[in-house]
Amino acid sequence: MSGILGYPNSAVTIADRLARLLPRAREVVLVAELAPRGVVGWIHGAEQELLDSGRRCEITGLVVDPPARGQGVGRRLVEAVEAWAAARGLGLLTVRSNIVRVESHPFYERLGFVRAKTQHAYRKQLP
Ligand SMILES: CC(C)(COP(=O)(O)OP(=O)(O)OC[C@H]1O[C@@H](n2cnc3c(N)ncnc32)[C@H](O)[C@@H]1OP(=O)(O)O)[C@@H](O)C(=O)NCCC(=O)NCCS
Repeated sequence: MSGILGYPNSAVTIADRLARLLPRAREVVLVAELAPRGVVGWIHGAEQELLDSGRRCEITGLVVDPPARGQGVGRRLVEAVEAWAAARGLGLLTVRSNIVRVESHPFYERLGFVRAKTQHAYRKQLP
């Protein structure tokens, strides 16, 4: 399903990453299941502590399988991360959404997120 976001990964790669991520107390990975289909979505949230603005939770990944969209799955995944973050005493939930993911913008606004800024993302490949 992460291929939908343009990050195609093999099941083995995802399993390796999950094995490292799941034991970390400061991160949460949740899946949504719809019977009888099984897993139809996932979300990854991470606690961050920034030098200039303190502790927060960032949603670093969220995908709902296209046939399962529009049924409240995305909302429930975000609300679950929100509850996880609140239980850790975090007072801010953030997400960065690519401008090409147009369906996610009204989604986040419907869930109470307010657009804070638009920015360029820079990358540098290291040897
Ligand atoms: C964005 C995404 C996660 C939404 O998931 P979803 O399960 O379809 O969303 P929900 O059904 O829970 O919708 C929650 C609310 O947002 C609204 N909403 C969802 N998609 C919308 C859209 N495209 N346009 C307008 N409103 C939308 C719903 O109407 C709903 O409102 P309500 O609860 O008041 O009725 C899903 O479209 C997706 O996986 N997109 C591709 C990946 C992506 O963009 N991920 C975000 C990366 S940051």
